[in-house]
Amino acid sequence: MIQKPKGTYDVYGSEGQTILYIENVLRALMDRYNYEYVRTPHFEASELFHRAVGETTDIVTKETYDFLDRGERKMTLRPEGTAGVIRSFVENKMYARDVMPVKTWYYGPMYRYERPQAGRFREFYQFGVEVFGSKEAMADAEVISIPVTLYKLLGLKGIQVNINSLGDTESRERYREALIKHFEPHLDELCEDCKERFVKNPLRILDCKVDHDLDIMKQAPKTIDYLNEESKKHFEEVQEYLKAMDIVYAIHPSIVRGLDYYTHTVFEVEASVEGFGSQNVLCGGGRYNHLVKNIGNVDVPGVGFALGMERLVTALACEQIDLCSEALDVYVIPFEDTKKEALSLVQTLRLSGFKVDTDYMNKNMKANFKQADKKNARFILLLGSDEVKENLLTIKNNHTKEEYKIQKEDLIAFLDEAFLEECACKECGGNHEEME
Ligand code: HAM
Repeated sequence: MIQKPKGTYDVYGSEGQTILYIENVLRALMDRYNYEYVRTPHFEASELFHRAVGETTDIVTKETYDFLDRGERKMTLRPEGTAGVIRSFVENKMYARDVMPVKTWYYGPMYRYERPQAGRFREFYQFGVEVFGSKEAMADAEVISIPVTLYKLLGLKGIQVNINSLGDTESRERYREALIKHFEPHLDELCEDCKERFVKNPLRILDCKVDHDLDIMKQAPKTIDYLNEESKKHFEEVQEYLKAMDIVYAIHPSIVRGLDYYTHTVFEVEASVEGFGSQNVLCGGGRYNHLVKNIGNVDVPGVGFALGMERLVTALACEQIDLCSEALDVYVIPFEDTKKEALSLVQTLRLSGFKVDTDYMNKNMKANFKQADKKNARFILLLGSDEVKENLLTIKNNHTKEEYKIQKEDLIAFLDEAFLEECACKECGGNHEEME
């Protein structure tokens, strides 16, 4: 039997329902934030990622899926979304619009040839945003507020927002020099990759997956101690805006992020709930003031973030949050001679917005009642031939076990009222106050 490729997974059952539910919440949320949807190809010219993500990052040196197409062009399956969205922003001249900033969101699969483990896949789904044209700290704070709002809407409690600043080019250069000074006397303690990183890009030593427990890593200088006045001011403003939105955060000086493009603000949101495992970073992002220029020669600042769908689903499971009630609104039980009428009724109910199922297996009455229970049906509808003749229906509340005989034309009104009363609230999974 051929099996799925290593590091990939199938979605089915309740996980599929959960993912669809989250996708709907994300769409509605982006509408509220007034962001526009962009979709870019799943593969791009390899050079795009080399330029954007950085030649010395783990992603580019070890993790990309590269291939030559039949025209001998070097292509790469996208390892992240930012580079492609920037390419699109420039190629489609979105920078020439008269409304700024341009606020975009995207969602789709990304590919990294990483060592698979819980929370780390080779094909995974990211939702992300990129905001172009504003260098103001207010834009950074808005971007940070998006995952925080999403997690709140979904009911997650165990999350921790960590922020840091890498500063502008001058601050980053000062920090780079400090890192060289710090690591130079300890080069022989570092792994072979880090020795190379020391020469090419010392910042990357800090996200080494091999050396991260060494004392010299823990004692490394902190970026915020090397910020110049302007960078400090920007970082302070970000914090003031976060406080204005009641977003609780911690300054985490060790966050440098695994991609090369950041300037000023960087942030990550961690799941702090027990049992999550080591891959507990739910999302990450930050500001990139020079990346658009590096990729497309247009001097426009940007800020964004991306979250991993798989880790979000795990966080919900760890907090035992069940977003998708599997309940059916109505299960219709047809009799031998009323199957057509039953199917017609199923169709009418579905068109009216109810979640409905019926028997397609020619089961007997007892087995059908069992099915209705298994499918967690709120109401059971019985359609006997005598009732059809009289234009009547028998409807049973499967929770209270009460039974009613009603006119066929009163059915929708009957159900509407019943659902309104009990506020089944399928749209928000019981979280309706916050969704409104
Ligand atoms: P990133 O930190 O590489 O940032 O990825 C963002 C999120 O994607 C991570 O926090 C994690 O939830 C998820 N993720 C990353 N790799 C994997 C994997 N192998 N398996 C499962 N989930 C994964 C970026 O990608 C940047 N483009 C974010 C950004 C947007 N910065 C500015 N704008």
